[in-house]
Amino acid sequence: MKRVAVYPGSFDPVTNGHLDIIRRACGIFSEVVVAVLHNRTKKALFSPDERLELIRANLKGLKNVRVDSFSGLLVDYMKKNNISVAIRGLRAVSDLEYEFQIAHTNRSLYNKMETVFLMPSDKYVYLSSSMVREVASFGGKFTAFIPRNVARALARKNREKAV
Ligand code: PNS
Repeated sequence: MKRVAVYPGSFDPVTNGHLDIIRRACGIFSEVVVAVLHNRTKKALFSPDERLELIRANLKGLKNVRVDSFSGLLVDYMKKNNISVAIRGLRAVSDLEYEFQIAHTNRSLYNKMETVFLMPSDKYVYLSSSMVREVASFGGKFTAFIPRNVARALARKNREKAV
C-alpha cells in the first residue's frame, strides 16, 4: 500500500534540520509532500516561490519527495489531496506544547488524520528558521546549519535591505 505523508511548515527558510527530517521521512513513507504554507496575513522573509525553490534545489537524489504550497487550513489541503498523515519535527521538550496544540486542533477538524513526530539529528536540536533569519540579519555566518543556496539567498536579502 502506498503511504503518503505531508510535511507542512513555513520553511522561511529551509534549514539543514528540515532537510534531515525530509530524508528520514522519505525512508519511512512511499511519498513525502513538503507543503510550504502561504500565509497571506503573516509577512515572511522569502516569498512562497522562493521558499519552494530553496527546498527543491536540496532534494536532488531523493526520488519519493515533491514540494507544493498551500494556503488556508492544513486539513483542507490534506483532504483535497487524500493524505491522512502529517509529519512534524520534534527537537526538544519545549516544542511539545505547540506541537500538541497543532496536532489536536488538526485532529478535531479531521479525525482520520495522524501526526507523526520525527526527531532530527541532535546537531539540529537548537536550530530554527527564526534563529537563522536573526543571525543572518546581523551578518553572522550560519553556514553549518543551512544549505549553501539558502546562505546565498539570505546574503542577497541583506544586501537588498541595505540599499
Ligand atoms: O513551520 P511552522 O511555522 O511551525 O509550521 C506551522 C504550520 C504551517 C504547520 C501550521 O501553522 C499550519 O498548518 N498552518 C495552516 C493553518 C492551519 O491549518 N491551522 C490549524 C492548525 S494550527
